[in-house]
Amino acid sequence: MIYLDSAATSFLKPATVRYAVSEAMRTMSSPGRGGYESAMRAADTLLDCRLALADLFCVRDPAHVVFTSSATHGLNIAIRSLVKPGDRVVISGYEHNAVWRPLHGLGADIRVARAPLFQPEDMVQAFRELLPGAKAAVCTQVSNVFGYILPVERIGSLCREQGVPLIVDAAQSAGTVGLDFDALGCAFAAMPGHKGLLGPQGTGVLLCRDEAAAPLFYGGTGSQSQEAFMPEFLPDRLEPGTHNVPGVAGLLAGVKWLQQRSCPAILAHERELLGEFCKRLAGADNVRLFRAEDPQTQAGVVSVQVDGMDCEEAAAKLAERGIAVRAGLHCAPLAHETAGTLSSGTVRFSFSPFNTRREALTAAEALLALA
Ligand code: ALA
Repeated sequence: MIYLDSAATSFLKPATVRYAVSEAMRTMSSPGRGGYESAMRAADTLLDCRLALADLFCVRDPAHVVFTSSATHGLNIAIRSLVKPGDRVVISGYEHNAVWRPLHGLGADIRVARAPLFQPEDMVQAFRELLPGAKAAVCTQVSNVFGYILPVERIGSLCREQGVPLIVDAAQSAGTVGLDFDALGCAFAAMPGHKGLLGPQGTGVLLCRDEAAAPLFYGGTGSQSQEAFMPEFLPDRLEPGTHNVPGVAGLLAGVKWLQQRSCPAILAHERELLGEFCKRLAGADNVRLFRAEDPQTQAGVVSVQVDGMDCEEAAAKLAERGIAVRAGLHCAPLAHETAGTLSSGTVRFSFSPFNTRREALTAAEALLALA
């Protein structure tokens, strides 16, 4: 199989990740529940992973690196910490349902900053117009559908000027496109552990500016156990219950692997594959590629449409040829609406550090054969 669905999950992982998960299951129990060896080993692993993530994302205090079960979980904490029913919230037109649905569920007054694909200047302008009076803003760093790299640094500056706390959805960017949490000054950044960070499914990370976040779940933390309230300090405030220790051990192995290669090198590799794939398809009249004119505004994800062919059918035919991609709306109807592809959806190809040039070209040939 040629796996080109890393935007869904990075199914292709370093061998060290698998090994770390299985070693954790063999040697680690629960952190913060005892001073014996297996508990201390688990505690050390969690701390090492927090430190590695704090280093990768420039977070001054590793206690503000919170483990979650997914990016969705982290986004729900962030949104519930900042938004009350009726509050005005500005979001980009490229948000995932992990942002759109929690805001709807809360009854927020959602204002969508719309701008065409790969037009960062227009997106900044759309935020500038909508931010006055907003209680919060949410912006994805990279669209999971189109690979569009949104100008979060500039949107972050606007938010700081207006005193509006910003939540960054780093689900599609973490591990490839850099995020300097301290410099960006955002209130929260949420990400999965299982996409670009190369960890197992069931892991996620929430970077928090302040301690005053609202817990989504309440329960035991192994700290201040006599109190009826959740501890006020991080990470305990947001991490009740037993940790996913094997998951975090795998995540730590994934992050170490990334740090050895470097995120810019991985982004460059994925962009190169994307470039080869698009070049091979460039002459085909009946294939529509959602490709940025300026390659700096696109990460290693591209959406495609084949004239006269339903996108689900195209993906099924590619699967028959051993090529794994995702078709449809990618849990991001808003992004499709903004790009004008809501009624049809797209076929999405997403590249990983483990894909090769040959795989990218084989996939392009298969698509040409379908077209
Ligand atoms: N959000 C994930 C995707 O884009 C699941 O496929």
